[in-house]
Parts: sequence; C-alpha cells; structure tokens
Amino acid sequence: MPAAISVSGRRVECAEDQSILEAFLRAGVWMPNSCNQGTCGTCKLQVLCGDVDHRDSPLETLTADERASGLALACQARPLEDTEVALRGTETGRATHLLRDLTATVVDVEDVAHDTRRVRFGLEEPLAFSAGQYVEVLVPGTSKRRQYSLANTAQEDKVLELHVRRVPGGVASDWLFGPVSVGDRVEVRGPLGDFHVPDMDQDAGEPMVLIGGGTGLAPLLGIARTALERHPDRVMVLYHGVRTEADLYDTDRLTELAGTYPGFSVVTVLSRESAPGHRSGYAPDVFVEDIASARGWSGWLCGSPALVEAGVKAFKRRRMAPRLIHREKFEPADRRGPGA
Ligand code: FES
Repeated sequence: MPAAISVSGRRVECAEDQSILEAFLRAGVWMPNSCNQGTCGTCKLQVLCGDVDHRDSPLETLTADERASGLALACQARPLEDTEVALRGTETGRATHLLRDLTATVVDVEDVAHDTRRVRFGLEEPLAFSAGQYVEVLVPGTSKRRQYSLANTAQEDKVLELHVRRVPGGVASDWLFGPVSVGDRVEVRGPLGDFHVPDMDQDAGEPMVLIGGGTGLAPLLGIARTALERHPDRVMVLYHGVRTEADLYDTDRLTELAGTYPGFSVVTVLSRESAPGHRSGYAPDVFVEDIASARGWSGWLCGSPALVEAGVKAFKRRRMAPRLIHREKFEPADRRGPGA
C-alpha cells in the first residue's frame, strides 16, 4: 500500500514497492546513499514512528539489534504505514538531483584496453547530475540492473559515458562485450550516490589526490575535469592503478589534461609488472612515497574494496582529515557498487 514518509518536515508519498530512499530521491529530498544494494550501510536511518518492512536488508549491514532499536536501511526498507524517519548524521537538507528514469541510446562503443570498453549513451533530454555519480542500467533482455559510474561532467548532460570491464559470465558483460550495438535502447535510472564533486560554493580549491583502480578511473575523470575547470591552478595528482600496462586506458586524455592544467599530474601504477614510464606497486603505497603531507587536501578513492581501504589508510597516514576523504567501492558481482 502507498504510504507517506517524512524526514525533517518534508513529507513525500512512497509508492507501493518503492524503497524509502527511492521515494525521497525522486522527490528531490537528499538522503545519504552509496551502493543502493543494502551492502554499505550509508543510508542507515532511524525510524521515529510508523513501521517498515526491511525486505532484503542483510544482517551483516543491519543487525538484529539495530532493527530492534528502530534503525533501517533506506535503500531496502518499505514503509508499511505512514512513517517518520530521521537521518543519523548532522547533515540534512543537502541539495540533490532528482532521481529519474530515462531511455538511453547507445551512440558509441570503443575498446580502450584489452578488456575494457567505453560505451556512450545519448539521452533525448538532459540529466542533471554531479560529476562522479552513477546510473543503473537495465540489462536488455533481463530484469537485472547494473551500476556504472559516469565519466562525463555535468555540462555534458545529454550523454552518459560508462567504462566497462569485462567480467567473464557477467550478465552485463555478456551484453556489452557481445551483441551491443549502436542504436540499442536501454532503460537507465539515475543519478545515484554521494561520491561527487562538492557544490561550487563549497569547493575551496584545495589540493586533491585521486586514486582509481581499473575502471575506477571513470568517476575520477569527471570529478577531475570539473574541479580543474573551477580552479585551473589547483594542485591535483591522479593515480591510476592497474595490473599490467595492457590494462591502462585514457592515458592520452590524462596527458592532455596535464598539458592544460599546470597543477595537474598523473601517475600510472602497475601492480604486476614493471614497464618504462610507469611506477610499480600498489597505488596507495606510491602515493605515500610521493606525498609527505596531505594535510588540507581532499582525497578521492574509487575501485575495489581493498584499494579503497588501503587508500583511506594511506590518506590518514599523510594527515588528511577524515571528512575530506571520499570513497566509492566497486563490490564484486551481487554485492555490488557502481562499475562492478
Ligand atoms: S546500504 Fe543503502 S545505500 Fe548502501
């Protein structure tokens, strides 16, 4: 049954079978969110009154004790009656883009590395988003949605640029490395996620370090370009970590960016081989070798959970304030975050 849900005085209608998170985002009311799959816990909130169905909330994300104390995952829970909730953090009322359903058309498919493709979709109407957010694509012929970070900037609002790594047997890989062709139409939902550039008035132009593993480069490209356009003199170092030289892509694009913005530099890091022009090792370790202090910097991490966790440690070791550390984890299939 449809029910009303409210937070901080904002009341919205929640359609049948709609999660609390989806209802709020579709109404333009911000809630913290990341994976939208019940795995990260970012959207945990307090139910103040009313009752919810926790649906598929995993016990490892929302324990029995937490349920008993009135906590819920907004991305999973459905209200069973009119319900009031409260966010757990102090931050409320953040601006957000409306979550929307769109039809997108494949306009370009390009092999950029031995197992990586860039797929561009065109939109008939613009989509408002912030660089770094992600969309969910309904894989044609299936009922499965897959999440992909956007590599484009918010100015490029009639295109969705996705970077896709081949996953053997993956339902989206089977399509995107198989029969996909220009002109295919797909259903897309977005934008989602809190991994994005801050609003203009909150961007002080501080130095930034970005570490991306594999296709974790995608949202960092949009974030880097946006942040550099705002503050062309800002110091920014981008580490792209991959296994072998054959996994690297978009190096020309990054080199061009470094030619345009003198404060921007890119470091490519290979974890499984040595090759001229690239560093060897693990990208977070290379950052620690390079940067003596990141106090006052902001940090941006996107990739596997291991890379993100190592990156957080590396940033803290170099004195970056925890509130300036932003992260997006690509979870393995079926415990997924964007780009998995
Ligand atoms: S658990 Fe809800 S957004 Fe991750």
